Amino acid sequence: MRKMEDPPVAIFLAIESSCDETAVAILRGEAGERTEVLASEVASQIEQHREHGGVVPELASRSHSLCLSGLVEEALESAEARIADIDVFGATMGPGLASSLLVGSTAAKAMSCVSGKPFVGVNHLEGHLLSPFMNRTEVPRHLGLVVSGGHTLLMKVDGAGNYVRMGTTRDDAAGEAFDKVGKMLGLPYPGGPEIEKMAKGGDPKAFAFPRSMMGGGELDFSFSGLKTAVLYTLQKNKNISIPDVAASFQVAVVEVLVEKTIRAAKAARVDLIGLSGGVSLNQAVRHAFIQRCDKEGIELAIAEAEVCTDNAAMIAFAGLLRFFAGKTDGLDGDINPNLTL
Ligand code: KG4
Ligand code: ZN
Repeated sequence: MRKMEDPPVAIFLAIESSCDETAVAILRGEAGERTEVLASEVASQIEQHREHGGVVPELASRSHSLCLSGLVEEALESAEARIADIDVFGATMGPGLASSLLVGSTAAKAMSCVSGKPFVGVNHLEGHLLSPFMNRTEVPRHLGLVVSGGHTLLMKVDGAGNYVRMGTTRDDAAGEAFDKVGKMLGLPYPGGPEIEKMAKGGDPKAFAFPRSMMGGGELDFSFSGLKTAVLYTLQKNKNISIPDVAASFQVAVVEVLVEKTIRAAKAARVDLIGLSGGVSLNQAVRHAFIQRCDKEGIELAIAEAEVCTDNAAMIAFAGLLRFFAGKTDGLDGDINPNLTL
């Protein structure tokens, strides 16, 4: 029998539905100890949106509502758990597409309501930010770079729930720039992985694309000038080498990401960097960070590949840490498509 002074153990079921992936995960954690992902199911809608060249919000929310209950069943089956075994339910409350967020959060609230168990709303960005540290329940002091389709965020982290924003994008997020340039190059959506493939056969020095906002101690990002520079280059040169453009574009993004993150880590006086979000799957990004951190004597924690793109395991993890900190949310809480960190 569990005694009052025993560390809390909780099984957390989380739903992520902020954009074009429906995801359900079950995580078991013991406060001050380790966490274990018991199940993590993701149903991607990429194929549905590909023919439209980007995410169509109404298609996304309808698809979430169609596959969610099946995904919850699958997650329970993989975790060998019953719904009665779940101690806490949680869902992404923002940022994201309003109609998509509503599907996942309403489903999680309904399960919480029926089972009489607490509900925890989670910020999607906090999910990404903490994802490099998912196997433990203590988040170390570090500088986190979240680099995804919707965000490019530099955060000083002083443990879970204690964040100071040091830099963000003034216009396009890094992943968004990959996706838009991918479209210009005639590559399928999402452009990020396609550009990475193309860039392997290209010369990164072929075009000197701009590295914006690199002056002074600037920690904000801007990728729209780079995107426009690629567009003009494509318009001017008819028989251009797509791999050369892809490689030159990719190296410009990588250099800016690495430089600003190191700058922010030094400004925050931390010797650990956490790297997360869809763009951190990119091998050129990973290698550049590994090399530079090694040179600077800074430790680097990169999120595992399966939690880089949108998933519910990272939402369960961020939610569990909030729960262990004594925070739960009412069922009357609203989603926020523009939530920030
Ligand atoms: O984290 P994520 O799944 O969703 C958001 O919260 O935005 O990130 C998706 C983004 C897309 O823009 C996609 O093109 C980009 O991550 N991405 C990549 C790679 N894989 C995914 N970008 C560059 N290289 C990749 N290998
Ligand atoms: Zn995301």
